[in-house]
This record gives sequence, C-alpha cells and structure tokens, in this order.
Amino acid sequence: MIPRYLVDFDVAELTKLEADVLIIGSGIAGLYTAIKAAEDRNVLLITKKALMESNTRYAQGGIAAVTSDEDTPASHMQDTLIAGAGLCEPEAVRALVHEGPEGIQELIRLGTAFDREDGELALTREGAHSHRRILHANGDATGYEVVRALSEQVAAHPAIEVWEECMVIDLLTEHGECIGALVQRPDGERLYVTANATILCSGGSGQLFRYTTNPDIATGDGIAMAYRAGAAVRDMEFVQFHPTALCYPGAPRFLISEAVRGEGAMLRNIHGERFMEQYDSRQELAPRDIVARAIVHEMERTQATFVYLDITHEPPERVKQRFPTIYRTCLSFGLDMTTDWIPIAPAAHYMMGGVQTNLYGESSIARLFACGEVSSTGVHGANRLASNSLSEAIVFGSRIIDRLHSLPPLAGHTLLAYGDNRAELLASSVVEERHRLQETMVRYAGVRRHGEGLQAALDELQGQMPIFKAAVTSREEIEFANLLTCALLVTDGALLREESRGAHYREDFPKTDDSVWHKHVQQRREQGITEECVHDI
Ligand code: SIN
Repeated sequence: MIPRYLVDFDVAELTKLEADVLIIGSGIAGLYTAIKAAEDRNVLLITKKALMESNTRYAQGGIAAVTSDEDTPASHMQDTLIAGAGLCEPEAVRALVHEGPEGIQELIRLGTAFDREDGELALTREGAHSHRRILHANGDATGYEVVRALSEQVAAHPAIEVWEECMVIDLLTEHGECIGALVQRPDGERLYVTANATILCSGGSGQLFRYTTNPDIATGDGIAMAYRAGAAVRDMEFVQFHPTALCYPGAPRFLISEAVRGEGAMLRNIHGERFMEQYDSRQELAPRDIVARAIVHEMERTQATFVYLDITHEPPERVKQRFPTIYRTCLSFGLDMTTDWIPIAPAAHYMMGGVQTNLYGESSIARLFACGEVSSTGVHGANRLASNSLSEAIVFGSRIIDRLHSLPPLAGHTLLAYGDNRAELLASSVVEERHRLQETMVRYAGVRRHGEGLQAALDELQGQMPIFKAAVTSREEIEFANLLTCALLVTDGALLREESRGAHYREDFPKTDDSVWHKHVQQRREQGITEECVHDI
C-alpha cells in the first residue's frame, strides 16, 4: 500500500513557518490565485523550479472564452459537454463558460497582452469548437505571455513571498484537515509550513509517458500528495493525448498547436493521402481523442511512426506571423512548415482527472483546495475541449479565493511525527526506474488499452513499489514516487472502466456503455476505488 507520508519526520525537530495561504505551483493557477489571495492575506508560493517554469509556459493555442457577439456561453457549454463524452459536471461547465469572459478581462487588467485585429481581440478556432473563441498572444506563445504578465505581478507584490527550487514533499493533515506542508529546500534542509488554506496548483503528470508535450517537472506531485493525505481523486484513467506533437529524429515531442489545424492544416499519411474523412465528418477539427486515435490507426495501417501535418497551402507570411514559435522551432530542425509537411505523432498532453473538488475548488479534505490541471472540477469530463484549461484555472481560482473568506482561523495543532524506519537506499537508479515506468505506461496505458495489457502494467508497476520503503532524499526520488502513485491510479482506473469513452479507449470494450459507466471513478487511499454518479443537467 502507498504510505501516508513519503519520508519519516518529527516536526518538533523542524523549523516552522506560518502563512495565511500556501500555494504550491507557479503555472497560471498558482500565479493567479496568489495575486487574488494577496489582496487581503499573506501568501507563500512554493515552486520546485524557477517561478516562470511551468506547463502553462508552453501552452500555445490559447484560452477559450466567449468574447464575441457572434458567440454565446450556451454554445461554449454545448461544445465542452460534447467533447467531454458524458462525464462533464454540467454546473462546473456552466461556471466556466459564464465566468470565463470576466476572467479574461482580469488577465488583461493584470497585464496580459492578447493578440488583436483592428483593435478587437483576435480569435482563432480549434478542434470541436463551433465558433472562433480562442484568444492567443504573440501568435502561438499564449502561455508564455500569461506567465510573463502574472509572474511580474507576483514578484513585485509585497504580500507574496516566493520560494523557488523548493520541493513540497507532503501535505500535513490533522483531525481531517490540511494544516500545511512539509518542504525541502534546495540544500536538503526540511521544514514545515502551516497555513489557513493550502492550494494545490501543481499541474499534471505528462511525465507518466515517454512521449509527452509536458516539461520534465510534470510529475503529478499534487495528485500524489493529495492521495497520500486521503483526498478523493477522480477520473484518473482519462489522459489526453495531443494529436500533433513533432516526431522527428533528434527533436523533442514539441507541441504543434491545434490552432494550426484550426487555421486549415491537413493531416496526411506517409503516402501523402488525407485520411481524417474516413474517421469523422469533422475531419481535422474533430475532438482530440478521435483525431489522436485516427492518427495511431493510420500509422499502424501504413507501418509508419508518424503522419504529416500540412499547412503549405497557406501564405508563408501568414503562417510565420500566426505561428512564430512553431515556425522557428521546426526550422531549427531543418523543417520549414511553409514548404515542408511536418512529421507528427500523438503525445501525452493533459490529465483530465485529478484531485476531486466541488464548485469552489475545495477538495474532500478541509482547508485543501486544488486549481488547474491538478484538480478534477468536472469541467473536462472524459476529454478536455481544446484551450479550456487556462480558462478553468482563472475561473476556479477566483472561486477558491471567494471561499477563503469563510474559513475560520487554523486552530493550534499537536506536534506531528511519522516514522516507518526507512533506512534503505533505493537499490537501482531512479532515472532508470522513471524510464521503466514511462515505457510501461506507453506500452499498456496509452492511446489504446486492453485489459490484459493494463494488468501487465499493474504487475510491472507493483515491482517498483520499493521506492515507498526507501529513505528518499533527492527531488528526483520524490518525483518518481509521485509518478508511480499516479501511474497506479491511472492504470487501476483504466482497468476498472470496462468501456471506451473520450480519451479512454479499451480494445476489449470498444463501445461506450452508458448503462453501466455513465459514472466517475473515484479513488481514495483508505477507501480504495469506487464509482460515483455524474450529476445531470
Ligand atoms: C494547443 O495549442 O493545441 C494546446 C492547447 C490546449 O491544450 O488546450
């Protein structure tokens, strides 16, 4: 069994610090909630790398919200529900589509410069959106612009203290509430922070898979810590694979934004033939899960490791101006997207599941909140609609801050200690263990899954459990323990869900089965795995 804490400790021996609000992570969710919380509280923001490093920083396509008179929240809601394949929580989606536009205005007030055309916000289209409603910045560098603007505000704010390069090891709980966290500084010193509210903003877990668009830091830390603390996590079997990541010798799986297809790019197999029509009438603009599976099928059919993305029919100046980052990156590998077809393949991109929250970002543990990719608010269902993630972070970030007003002060706590007599060192290299886990997940828990394969994955992952008995000290060891926790949650959930829905595709159960599986899968450390109803509209 996964232990309650990853390390042995006695807080009586540790330095203690206090904060009104503790925020873990510095993507859009962490930066935005820090700024909002700091309006009337002291905030401590802890991030395991530099303030500007996060998954958000690499977001290209943009942020979805209704800002045009030709569009409506009802249409945005409908598109989100359709993409979510029956598992969205309608009230969460309603909050997203109605409160998203105000969140955009707030981002603009905070200094985010979205692209404009003739003075109006420039809007693009992405897969499964019925309208042009995606805002973007510097063409395809939306995430970078958002974290630039917000991190400047955070760094200058007198009520926000930022700790960079610090690893949160575990959440501290007592009497059923979260009282703060155990933290490791870069020099290895451990201390603990108590806070009236702790907000997990630590992003997703793309590093579960060998091929991912996510940076190295996306190791599912927040989900794993919350699970160890006893919080409910939900929908972990739903991992989104982005259809179009660069697949070229020597190049990383660099994201080629969905907006490229939104602006007319076509998919072609290695023989140069378009193929999406055979899979979905929406063709290249079908929801991501459908496009990703179609690509994998076409790769197998043609015995190739990639397909092509072709935008060569568009005027070169327009392509360069609209997608400067993608253009430059492809060119650095000798690919000119204005004249060459770009080789691409699907790659792990986004975790739909996470720490289960209510409509105010509250987890099942008092004083513990979750915001952004780490959370499962119910907005994304079984398949996230493109560009809804940044909007979700600001909408639910604001809701969390409203909720903080009703939290009573934290009562005094007894001195916690935890011991499992961990003395052993890990027998093998943690780098190799991480690669082994990533290979297992790619092979058995990727775009297509099968019961036998998922069982084989569980067996492999169980073999890596000695990490939980080792005396972990380095950031890499803690991250591996977190990845392993998430891998077990994904695989357990995927094995239980005997149907195909959204991003979860079972070759042995290829149909969606609403009669049995119109449900969430919920997992808790002590209660195990259970099913939970979806709320109807
Ligand atoms: C993209 O630009 O395709 C990524 C946007 C997203 O994941 O929503």
